[in-house]
Amino acid sequence: MIHLFQPQTGELELAAVAEVFADRWLGHGPRTKAFETEFATHLGVDPAHTIFLNSGTAGLFLALECLDLAEGDEVVLPSLSFLAAANAVVAAGARPVFCDVDPRTLNPTARHIEAALTERTKAVIVLHYGGYPGDIEAIAALCRDRGVPLVEDAACSVDSRVDGRAVGTFGDLAMWSFDAMKVLVTGDGGMLWVRDPERAARARRLAYHGLAQSSGFGHARVSHRWWELEVPEVGRRVIGNDLTAAIGRVQLGRLPGFTARRRAIVELYDRELAGADGVLTPPPPPAGHESTHYFYWVQFADGMRDDIASELLAADIYTTFRYAPLHKVPAYRSADQAPLPSSDHAAARTLCLPLHPGLTDDDVRTVAATLRKAVAARRQEP
Ligand SMILES: Cc1ncc(COP(=O)(O)O)c(C=O)c1O
Repeated sequence: MIHLFQPQTGELELAAVAEVFADRWLGHGPRTKAFETEFATHLGVDPAHTIFLNSGTAGLFLALECLDLAEGDEVVLPSLSFLAAANAVVAAGARPVFCDVDPRTLNPTARHIEAALTERTKAVIVLHYGGYPGDIEAIAALCRDRGVPLVEDAACSVDSRVDGRAVGTFGDLAMWSFDAMKVLVTGDGGMLWVRDPERAARARRLAYHGLAQSSGFGHARVSHRWWELEVPEVGRRVIGNDLTAAIGRVQLGRLPGFTARRRAIVELYDRELAGADGVLTPPPPPAGHESTHYFYWVQFADGMRDDIASELLAADIYTTFRYAPLHKVPAYRSADQAPLPSSDHAAARTLCLPLHPGLTDDDVRTVAATLRKAVAARRQEP
């Protein structure tokens, strides 16, 4: 089977985990701090503002919680988002309002966001489809102008930049996902970045029960009665730990290699699929935009996507579509949702092909050849 995604973990990660075992400190500790610092350096931000969590979803929920939303508030996000973003909006007491996307990049432009803004809009969430930065500079400028906080769901863009600036640092809050299928994996895990220092300190508290200070060993030499509790606001427990941080640190060191191999695979797909009748390959990112290359997506001219996905599966090639449109999901649907024709169009025609550094060039050629054959057979049908 040629898989869609596959984590790249091996001896280096095992050795890092073995060190954690030997030290007998598995929970939140020095390796968590070190990972937060190294990730902050990777982003070019202050490490006091990066918080290692147990998932990217926890980062979305915390980000929305920090915005103090209320009933009647609206949060604008593209319909082609991961469902955790909409869940986080609803959990924070607000209403998701879905906007359209560019039908080829599957990213919203500033124009799409602007069309969905109302006086009730209290936040905007954007993701960077497949790691492609999209219109992030213009969207960040629009949100600044309107005084609306921008949350970047940078789950897929751990190594994406615009003119050298890390994606995720354009808005006010951002999170990255390190789940088992991502580019940098810790099994489960995520990083939250919060621009404002006070909000960052609050997010850190909320990630660990709402405690203002540690009530454990970490505080024993600081406070006389370190077991006493100071809880300015109730929180949850969504912190990362030293086991997953140890894996994350190794993965961060390997990230440039992962991205380079992903880019090479994308270029090979582009060559192998060039000129294939009825297949559109991803539009190249504009100058200055660097992608993590999380997805390689193709689009079909005449709505034959579902049959092609089945035919590829029968040939042991697993593909999928991300992200099924949220404005169609009853749990989030509202009566006054505007029609989103480009999202509907893209959702009916797009397929994500296998993309991970474990693929050989032969695997990529096999996928491309099987796809070309499946498309050509359908185009010959009367
Ligand atoms: C765009 C996007 N946002 C958020 C998440 C949630 O991340 P996690 O799985 O780490 O909770 C994912 C995971 O698939 C994602 O793809």
